[in-house]
Amino acid sequence: MQFRRVPTPLALLVGLLLGLLIGRALPSGILAPSWSNGPIFVSRLSARKQFTLPSTDQRHRVLELLSTLSPHHTTECTRNSQPLYVQQARERYKSLVGYEPPAQSSWLSSLGLGGFGDSQHVHSAPAKEHKYFFAINLYNSFDIIPDLFATLFRVSAILGYHNVYVSIYENGSTDQTKALLRIFDALTRSVGLRVTIRTSTRTRGAFNHRIEYLAEVRNQAFNPLHELRDSHNEYFDTIIFMNDILPCVDDLLELIWQSRRNNAGITCAADYMYHEEIGSPVFYDNWVARDINGTALENAPFEAIFHDAYSSDRFQMHLPIQVQSCWNGVAVLDPAPFYTPPYVSFRMAKLTEEECSASECSLICNDYWEAGYGRILMVPRVKLAYDKKVFDIVHPSRRNLTAIRGYVRLGGLPDNPRTDPQDRSWFGPHDRLFTPEESEEIEFVPGPSHVWCWGWDGAGDIDGPDVDPIWELMPNRSQSAEAVTVKHQRKMDGL
Ligand SMILES: *[C@@H]1O[C@H](CO)[C@@H](O)[C@H](O)[C@H]1NC(C)=O
Ligand SMILES: *[C@@H]1O[C@H](CO)[C@@H](O)[C@H](O)[C@H]1NC(C)=O
Ligand SMILES: *[C@@H]1O[C@H](CO)[C@@H](O)[C@H](O)[C@H]1NC(C)=O
Ligand SMILES: *[C@@H]1O[C@H](CO)[C@@H](O)[C@H](O)[C@H]1NC(C)=O
Repeated sequence: MQFRRVPTPLALLVGLLLGLLIGRALPSGILAPSWSNGPIFVSRLSARKQFTLPSTDQRHRVLELLSTLSPHHTTECTRNSQPLYVQQARERYKSLVGYEPPAQSSWLSSLGLGGFGDSQHVHSAPAKEHKYFFAINLYNSFDIIPDLFATLFRVSAILGYHNVYVSIYENGSTDQTKALLRIFDALTRSVGLRVTIRTSTRTRGAFNHRIEYLAEVRNQAFNPLHELRDSHNEYFDTIIFMNDILPCVDDLLELIWQSRRNNAGITCAADYMYHEEIGSPVFYDNWVARDINGTALENAPFEAIFHDAYSSDRFQMHLPIQVQSCWNGVAVLDPAPFYTPPYVSFRMAKLTEEECSASECSLICNDYWEAGYGRILMVPRVKLAYDKKVFDIVHPSRRNLTAIRGYVRLGGLPDNPRTDPQDRSWFGPHDRLFTPEESEEIEFVPGPSHVWCWGWDGAGDIDGPDVDPIWELMPNRSQSAEAVTVKHQRKMDGL
C-alpha cells in the first residue's frame, strides 16, 4: 500500500489557517520541547477555558501521522481540487472559522484579558463563539478510525479546536476497536481537542425491541452533552451526528454551513449503495427519508429518488431540499430541542399509543416537527458512500478537457471551469463548483398531514421492516406554519 503525503488544497487551507490565525494569535513555544509527556490540560475543571495549547507544528505532526494511517478515500477527496473550487470553498467556509481575525492582535485585551505575555499558558476563547458537539457511534470500526480522526482533526482546525467536543460511544465491538480508540483518545487530547470515548459491553440481548436498543446507543453518545451542561453550564450550538461513515472535510463543512445558513433543525447528506441489478449506485436510507409530502424516497437512481416533483427538480440540480425526515449517515442537529422542553431524545415508538414503529431517526424528526423545529433539510451535493467502489462512481476524478486531444476542436469550450461538462453529469467530480442558488435560503413550508411509515417491531434478527406500511397521521402542530419558524438563530455573521 502506498501512502502519499502531498498536502491537499483543503489541508493547505487548514495549514494556512493554522499558521495565520492560530500561530499569530497565540504565544509560541509554550510547551516543553518534549510534547509527548507534558500535561495538556491544566486541570479537569478549568479544561474548558484554560489549557496549554500545543504549537501548530505539534498539531501538524499529529495530523501527518494520522494521514499516513488512513488508506481510505477521504484522504483523497480534496486532493487536486480545481483552483476555482478551492477559492469558492475558502470564501464560503470563512464564516465558519472559529478564530478571531489575526489583524486584531489585541483581541485578547479587548476582552479584558490583556497583559498576557509570551510566558502565559492560557488561551481564552472569544465571546460569542459557536460550539460544536460531534456525537459518533462506532461498532467494529477498526478500519475507519484513523481516517475518521484525521477528518475530525481537519474540521476542528477550521471550527477552532476549542469550539469542538467529540463524544464517541462504542458498543460491544469484537475487533480491536476499543484498543485503537484508546490510542486516538491520547492523540486527540495532545492537540487540545476535547474528546470523550466510552465503550460498552452491553449487547442487544438486554433489550426486547430493536429500536429501543438503537435509540439507547445513540442517546449514550449524547450523555456528555447533558453532563457538560450540568457540570460546567456549557451549551453547544450545533450537533453533528455520525455513524461509521467517512465524509470528506468539505462534506462536513457544507452540512454545517447549510444547517446554520438555514437555521435548520436537522440537516442531512445523501447516502448511496451499489445496486447489483441496476448496476449503479442508488439512494440508500429510504427507511428514514421522507419528502415534504410524507412519501418515502426510493432506492433508485438519482432521477427517480423523489416522488415530489419540486423536490426531484431541486435534487437534480444539487440544490438543498426541504424534507419531512432524513438521516443518511450524517446529520447536523440544532441542539435546542435537547436543552429545552419537550427535551427530545432518541426513542422507540410509543406502542401503547399506537404510534408506528419507525426508526429512532424518523421519530426524532417527527419530534423536531412537533417541538417547532421542523426545518429539515437534505443537501444533495454531499454524497456519502459506504465503500470505495461507490465513492469512486459518485465522485469520478476530474479530467483536464483541454489536455484531451481534439476536445476544443470538436466544439468543446476551452478550459473554462464554469462550463465544464463533467459538472453536468449527475455523479460528478467532488470539486463541483458552487452555483449561486446553493447559497439561497430555503423557504420552509409546514409539514404533511400524513407520513408513510413502515414499522419494524421485531427484536432484531429479521432483515427489514416487518409491519405493513401505513400513512400515519401527523399531529396538528407539525402541520402549522409555526412548526417551521426560526426559534434558535445559528446563522454565521454576514449571512
Ligand atoms: C452496536 O450498535 C450497532 C448500531 O449502532 C449495532 O448494529 C450492533 O449490533 C451493536 N453491537 C452489539 C454487540 O450489539
Ligand atoms: C489542462 O491542460 C492544458 C494543456 O495541457 C494546460 O495548459 C492547463 O493548464 C491544464 N489545466 C488544468 C486545470 O490543469
Ligand atoms: C402525497 O401524500 C399523499 C398522502 O398524504 C399520498 O396519497 C400521495 O400519493 C402523495 N403524493 C406523491 C406524489 O407522492
Ligand atoms: C387538528 O386540526 C383539525 C382540523 O384542522 C381539527 O379538526 C382537530 O380537532 C385538531 N386536533 C387537535 C388535537 O387540535
